[in-house]
Amino acid sequence: MTVPAASSVPADPLSLSAFEVLVRARRATRHFLPQPIPDDLLARILDAARWAPSGYNLQPTHIFIVRDPGRRAAMLPACMGQAQVREAPLTLIFTGDRRVRSAHFERVLEMERAAGNLPEHYEKRLRAVVPLAFDRGPLGLKAALKAVFAPLRRLFLPTPAIPALDMRFWLAKQAMLSAMNAMLAATAAGLATVPMEGFDPGRVRRVLRIPRRFEILLLMPIGYAAPGTLTKTRLPTADLIHEVPADTRREATP
Ligand SMILES: Cc1cc2nc3c(=O)[nH]c(=O)nc-3n(C[C@H](O)[C@H](O)[C@H](O)COP(=O)(O)O)c2cc1C
Repeated sequence: MTVPAASSVPADPLSLSAFEVLVRARRATRHFLPQPIPDDLLARILDAARWAPSGYNLQPTHIFIVRDPGRRAAMLPACMGQAQVREAPLTLIFTGDRRVRSAHFERVLEMERAAGNLPEHYEKRLRAVVPLAFDRGPLGLKAALKAVFAPLRRLFLPTPAIPALDMRFWLAKQAMLSAMNAMLAATAAGLATVPMEGFDPGRVRRVLRIPRRFEILLLMPIGYAAPGTLTKTRLPTADLIHEVPADTRREATP
């Protein structure tokens, strides 16, 4: 799919206003009508999730759809009795593939090359960096070495966080971006969602028979909201946004 580059999208203040309305309209909804979600809307919401960014464009996020009422009811104890998983006609399970490097890396390089996004020097760099970042080696031996050498290297050279050392954290970052896309798309479609971390991942895995390679990161019941009003609250901007002051020391001047 070819889309205009961000710089070529006209800065339309009306569309920013529409986006702000959408962001504020999304609510964590805990009561749903039994009404099913039209297939075409669901497909568009899931597609919005697919277009989220991900590190190295590896796209590790996989979404499992739980539609069957029996399975939804069975999930309840693993979700600390949160009734929305049974009430909503669907629950989306956002997961991250621990084996994404072997599953997607070559395919992504191929796609990027075909799209003209992959100059030779960048491919070379990716081929050096991605194995360093992700490979754990047999029995996790490479990961153990990385756990020792990364902090030592950091004493002398800038060294980023290494996904192989905390794969669940890396996968969670990627999945949350997809989840946010899905929640906003659902709101735009007149549907409601609730992101959920209140669940026992091991038990959810067993109830839904999700393979172990997929880390279970976020649950998202989705459907039409039951009538009721929810008032959104947030702390003031000034409490949450921090401007880093200019560094006036002479040596910091670039
Ligand atoms: C990562 C995450 C996990 C959450 N887990 C739950 C949950 O398990 N159950 C629930 O009812 N709400 C859950 N929420 C919803 C929050 O309570 C809700 O987003 C917050 O109160 C703000 O309300 P709003 O989303 O309607 O603006 C979660 C939200 C996030 C972002």
